[in-house]
Amino acid sequence: ADGAKLFGAKCAECHGGDGKDVSISGKAIAGDAATLTKLVGYKNGSFGGEQKATMQGSIAGLSDDDLKAIAAHVGTL
Ligand code: HEM
Repeated sequence: ADGAKLFGAKCAECHGGDGKDVSISGKAIAGDAATLTKLVGYKNGSFGGEQKATMQGSIAGLSDDDLKAIAAHVGTL
């Protein structure tokens, strides 16, 4: 999976192309080494805040491989 391409298509509208837009999620995600753990947590329901349903919906169609590729890309931002 192409993490950069998936991030652009699935995440950038809310987190910004640089992962630093805080207007929707409240915090920057760029460079966060815990991103994969958080994404897996949204998927299995063990992580999230008041708006976690938004994130659960946003990653619903993505495979574990997709999430790994996206998280690796976020780590480079
Ligand atoms: C939270 C990544 C798509 C809106 C987060 C967090 C991460 C993340 C890592 C947790 C931040 C933290 O608490 O440290 C991603 C990735 C996406 C994606 C990789 C694409 C696969 C989206 C989209 C939206 C969105 C499309 C808007 C429709 C939010 C919101 C939160 C959040 C509102 C806060 C949720 C909460 O209360 O737990 N995102 N996001 N995200 N994201 Fe995304």
